[in-house]
Amino acid sequence: MSVPVILDVDTGIDDALAILFAVRHPDLDVLGISCVAGNTSLAQVVDNTLRVLDAAGAPQIPVAAGAPRPLLEPARASSHVHGADGLGGVALPSSSRSVESVGAVELMRRLILEHETPVTLVALAPQTNLALLLRTYPEVVGNLERIVFMGGSASVGNATAVAEFNVWHDPEAAAIVLDSNVPTYMYGLDVFNRVAIDEPVARALEVGDDALGRLVGGLVGVRISRPDGGRSEYTGHIGDAGAVCAIVDPDALSTQTRPVRVELAGYGRGQTLVDLRRSTDEAMPNTAGDEWTNVEIALEVDADRIVRLFLETLGLGGAIR
Ligand code: BDR
Ligand code: CA
Repeated sequence: MSVPVILDVDTGIDDALAILFAVRHPDLDVLGISCVAGNTSLAQVVDNTLRVLDAAGAPQIPVAAGAPRPLLEPARASSHVHGADGLGGVALPSSSRSVESVGAVELMRRLILEHETPVTLVALAPQTNLALLLRTYPEVVGNLERIVFMGGSASVGNATAVAEFNVWHDPEAAAIVLDSNVPTYMYGLDVFNRVAIDEPVARALEVGDDALGRLVGGLVGVRISRPDGGRSEYTGHIGDAGAVCAIVDPDALSTQTRPVRVELAGYGRGQTLVDLRRSTDEAMPNTAGDEWTNVEIALEVDADRIVRLFLETLGLGGAIR
């Protein structure tokens, strides 16, 4: 039976890759997609999402617009990574699909409460929409299987030395999500940074015969070339798509359940503090109690296996044989 999921996105090069994978994988049933400001503006995120669904040949999936900015701070798009249009200039035809008349919070509430089995929320963006949902309609918790989120890190940051972009963009929202009592799975930079298509494979896809392959190659190719001609730190990365792959093939990753909290103040704002001490015993000083939440964290990944799963799902497995 397929897993019912709602994707929360800020499309975004790698959100686009995640959408392509999710709508193509038979074990996933994408009930809807909610959009939030993050990599680019909300309007651009919505537009990109509709175009990507067309490119994927997806059935009609409801798409709703959510928060145009984080709870406290102004939006801070990452055009240095995703380009001004969020898709790194990879041109996709405009879509005849339309966005839902209700907002993201209303759409998520309806989809979750109406579904006959518990739903998995897949957060690939700043968690503003999720926080608003959980605060406005806490009853959704009763029909949530878990929240799988791309965000955070038990090691290095990217938006700052210690903070990952999605959590850094709206730290209060991430803290609310961790406080929700919904089981959470963190696909953070510890694994995100490791899953990449080899550059020759990406280049071959980009110039190949398959339209979807050209799109995938183009998107990851954007990550390969920087405007100054240098090598991007995201060379070939499938990014957010890896978090969706982890739902389908959890054994490709190894996880540990650890206490986590979001740092809200000072230089560490947006950092996920992760207690990696050997014992996670209740008696462990300073991480028991309300301010810490046990989170299943992906710490190791078989990157080749994830890349293979991603490409084969899109019918592009031939590129790596
Ligand atoms: C996250 O931030 C965005 O740039 C990506 O889409 C991903 O969700 C990585 O820190
Ligand atoms: Ca994203």
